[in-house]
Amino acid sequence: MELTPPPVRRLPLDPAPGRGDADGHRPGAPLDGARRRRAPSSGFATDRMQVEDVSIAYGRKLAVDRVSLPIRQGEVLALIGPSGCGKTTLLRSLNRLTELTSTASFKGSITLDGADITRLEPTALRRRVTMVFQQPNPFPMSVFDNIAYVLREQAARRPKRAALNRRVREVLAHAGLLDEVEHDLRHPALRLSGGQQQRLCIARALAADPEVLLLDEPCSALDPQSTQVIEDLIVKLREQVAVVIVTHNLQQAYRIADYVAFMYLGELVEYGSATQVFGAPREQRTREYVSGAFG
Ligand SMILES: Nc1ncnc2c1ncn2[C@@H]1O[C@H](COP(=O)(O)OP(=O)(O)O)[C@@H](O)[C@H]1O
Ligand SMILES: [Mg+2]
Repeated sequence: MELTPPPVRRLPLDPAPGRGDADGHRPGAPLDGARRRRAPSSGFATDRMQVEDVSIAYGRKLAVDRVSLPIRQGEVLALIGPSGCGKTTLLRSLNRLTELTSTASFKGSITLDGADITRLEPTALRRRVTMVFQQPNPFPMSVFDNIAYVLREQAARRPKRAALNRRVREVLAHAGLLDEVEHDLRHPALRLSGGQQQRLCIARALAADPEVLLLDEPCSALDPQSTQVIEDLIVKLREQVAVVIVTHNLQQAYRIADYVAFMYLGELVEYGSATQVFGAPREQRTREYVSGAFG
């Protein structure tokens, strides 16, 4: 494929001192000065999903071109790459949201715990593989009801009030929001701050007890403070749920990802540990991208 790189845009990097990181990032390597914040994962990762030779087209336009990669619990996987390279399309295919686009066609296979996802009932799949979008989209109801809604929907019979109260609080605590909202769980969700709304959306996604959490640029509408809170949360969540995050923010990927998939024009150019992809990229296109030459 003939590649025409998009216009040059330099990435703003933190003007932090140019030291190597604790995890051995080389001084002078791309993203030097940016901080890798993640505590190392427990190292105990379990395969949850396998993407095998997946291609997705809109009409005749190929958006994802023969991508294969694993998605593991215990790790955060970041999908990076310039705008329009297919990150959202690939993410949406993981719980069959791409099917909702009438022009989209799909080839290849995706499995969840060994089962082909096309054989699963879509609603059941979307409960196990849940998505959080770029713009926080809480339901126009109270904080409590945002979570209770999912819990009620999921329960075989109507949960008892005390059990529901307890579970709502647990879920909010899990998403790091309880302290800020527990004085008034009847507060309208839409009156929370953007960062709180996004954590509520993550809480709502977690309420269904998913195996895989998909996040499509979850912080791009948020201020740096809320972004940091959500990044910390994502790193904590990876032990219980496989996390896939799309981000165009390389520093964010660098801070929170264990594995990184670099996409360009629909192709998966490089997949590897965050340390490898950022510190010693194998491919020229990755090297250019992570060093901010284009993006
Ligand atoms: N619903 C759609 N219909 C047609 N083309 C689409 C649609 N969604 C995305 N595309 C195209 O598919 C390509 C990949 O888009 P997307 O997955 O949104 O990329 P990214 O998330 O990396 O920015 C782009 O060229 C985009 O214009
Ligand atoms: Mg996108």
